[in-house]
Amino acid sequence: MTTKKLYIKTYGCQMNVYDSARMADVLAPLGYAPTEVPEQADLILLNTCHIREKASEKVFSEVGRLRPLKGLAEADGRRLLIAVAGCVAQAEGEEIQRRAPAVDIVLGPQTYHRLPELVRRAEGGERGRGLVDTDFPVESKFDFLPEEAAGQGPAAFLSVQEGCDKFCSFCVVPYTRGAEASRPAARVIEEARRLVAGGAVEITLLGQNVNAYHGEAPASSSSGAGVGDTWSLARLIRALAEIEGLERIRYTTSHPRDMADDLIAAHAEVPALMPYLHLPVQAGSDRILAAMNRKHDAEAYRRLVGRLREARPDLAVSGDFIVGFPGERDRDFAETLRLVSDVGYAQAYSFKYSPRPGTPAAGTGEQVPEPVKAERLAMLQQLLDEQQIAFNRATVGRRLPVLLERAGRREGQLAGRSPYMQSVAVEAPPRLLGRIAEIEILEARPNGVTGRVVTLDTDRAPDRPRNPQPEGRAPAPAA
Ligand code: SAH
Ligand code: SF4
Ligand code: F3S
Repeated sequence: MTTKKLYIKTYGCQMNVYDSARMADVLAPLGYAPTEVPEQADLILLNTCHIREKASEKVFSEVGRLRPLKGLAEADGRRLLIAVAGCVAQAEGEEIQRRAPAVDIVLGPQTYHRLPELVRRAEGGERGRGLVDTDFPVESKFDFLPEEAAGQGPAAFLSVQEGCDKFCSFCVVPYTRGAEASRPAARVIEEARRLVAGGAVEITLLGQNVNAYHGEAPASSSSGAGVGDTWSLARLIRALAEIEGLERIRYTTSHPRDMADDLIAAHAEVPALMPYLHLPVQAGSDRILAAMNRKHDAEAYRRLVGRLREARPDLAVSGDFIVGFPGERDRDFAETLRLVSDVGYAQAYSFKYSPRPGTPAAGTGEQVPEPVKAERLAMLQQLLDEQQIAFNRATVGRRLPVLLERAGRREGQLAGRSPYMQSVAVEAPPRLLGRIAEIEILEARPNGVTGRVVTLDTDRAPDRPRNPQPEGRAPAPAA
């Protein structure tokens, strides 16, 4: 079989990063091997994001940039195919074909197991509508993934849940990813074992709404599961924490409404569960939260963070914010600043509201003018930046276990993450790559910290207790 080259460019969230890797997996049997060089590619795959207008428009400019490569490939006696996958493909499949005829294949996030078939047909010369697949099929793409997935390295992603039923009034995800669905726990555990066998030390469980996870319980689960029983995310995390060699577990992204008691308890009781939580709130004004259809108020969020910190006092909290949501007044925005001050974020992402076609908020008449959005965003980001640097400063002088994941930016450096998701740069020999080392934090930078190697964590504590059972512990009272 001749080797063909596959170039993938990924936009958007970590789930897209995971999906891109899986698409590379399903294309491998067709003879496609990854390349970093688009000029050498026989197939270019853009895995797209629809979340904000800017993200969405990138697809069309990128296709415009890539189109000349088709002519170059032809002159070279090759044929270059361009495929657009992901959330823009789902939302605007037919429009992509109309606006960008250079695109050969369009497929949504739920149909990538059908990609090999589409590629085969495109290779055979088929064109047009038949190569647009934006179904929400009954079968799950996860059931068609090849077992021998390419290694992801020391810090791996694992999708456990997909789609969203929350319908926040600003958000396209329920439309692009479809209804909430969880993978069976046994499948997740199998995949986690494979990842660990392939060198993963840390696994981040992914879902658009990951803490709403309710996957089918394993047939032989010790909890005596019967048919139709499901596991919560907390139960899944406890099972994963038993896997030998899996030192760290994270999960993202969570919705405040689905932060169940057992999950909060897991933060207190499962040592492998890292003390970092991305818990978006979006806004601090109850009026705006209601208009966003977030289904909770600011006080509930404050209480929730309080309960989480009771369970895990050093928990680093991260969040997402939207400024300039339709109808947001100065005093609403002031409530967002107040909430941020109260919570104290280790890190956060903030965005100007972007009206998305087909979402309820896009049609409302009270759109906030662009300069007001820009001004609010700058104010919010200044506060969040101050909090991030304060968080980083507070770790200076401490010794933290850091998973060294990759080569650092400078010669002789490795880079990794602290338990709190801070990015850490250290002078370290390459043999420490993929290991957890104890690092003394020396200096805080706006986007991370630097440190020095003290010892290898894995040399020091090879068999610490990993997953103490929560026996006799009553669940925390509901907020
Ligand atoms: N499922 C996650 C977030 C998914 S989208 C959650 O519920 O929190 C990631 C972030 O993009 C959101 O948290 C939100 O802050 C931002 N976002 C989503 N839609 C947006 C829009 N229309 N305009 C601006 N930001 C948006
Ligand atoms: Fe979008 Fe809201 Fe669902 Fe998050 S919870 S994906 S913001 S609709
Ligand atoms: Fe973007 Fe789709 Fe993720 S819209 S943020 S790629 S779920």
